Amino acid sequence: MNKKVITLIGVLVLLVVIGGVIYFTTRDNTQSNENPNQENNNQVTNDNEENNNEEEGEDNNTTSTGNRVLILYFSMSGNTETVAEFIHEEVGGDLVKLETEKTYSSDYNDLLDEAQEEQRNNARPALKTTINLDNYDVIFLGYPNWWGDMPMPIYTLLDEYDFSGKIIAPFVTSGGSGFSNTLSEIRNAEPNANVTEGLSISGSSASSSRNRVNTWVEELGF
Ligand SMILES: Cc1cc2nc3c(=O)[nH]c(=O)nc-3n(C[C@H](O)[C@H](O)[C@H](O)COP(=O)(O)O)c2cc1C
Repeated sequence: MNKKVITLIGVLVLLVVIGGVIYFTTRDNTQSNENPNQENNNQVTNDNEENNNEEEGEDNNTTSTGNRVLILYFSMSGNTETVAEFIHEEVGGDLVKLETEKTYSSDYNDLLDEAQEEQRNNARPALKTTINLDNYDVIFLGYPNWWGDMPMPIYTLLDEYDFSGKIIAPFVTSGGSGFSNTLSEIRNAEPNANVTEGLSISGSSASSSRNRVNTWVEELGF
């Protein structure tokens, strides 16, 4: 009888120990998965205590990573806009279309000439859009490839605003040229910004780029 009781207690103790081991092992794994990006230095991290988004929804441009995000894009025929919207849906933050004072031609051939002329003149088309960069830590910056370069309004933007200390995550849509030399152009114009790896999408596949967008923003730490 006593033996049976002792055996029973022994079994119970064993069960409790096994249960405890399983509980703590599972808990540790869950915790280490909470921020899988912590060890990757190329990623966007939240090192600004003030930006911790403890009260969710209080600040619309603050994302789940605690970064204040602006998705700023220039787009004429909508491809870059589509990609910008995918980023916005995935990351959150503020979505702003960069608009110019002037209206670009809606005729494609005329637009080609107009854009080429602006490049030749190293023009700085005036911006209608104003932004307050103080409100942001991370700026997703999107544009179409125009003649192997950025549309000149992006140069106006980089001239007029100081992105020092900000993270710039560039994305481009194109007919196949990708970024051309534009990542270097951004780095040259904003030497004190941290320019991340960019995302290049072909214009014709912009509408089916959601998965690539999601992978990219995940790699950036969002
Ligand atoms: C003025 C102009 C110049 C362009 N130059 C290039 C080019 O050099 N290389 C390229 O791959 N695509 C070029 N394209 C195609 C655009 O980059 C592509 O269609 C882009 O997705 C358009 O973006 P959007 O719809 O956001 O305006 C050009 C388009 C325009 C209107």
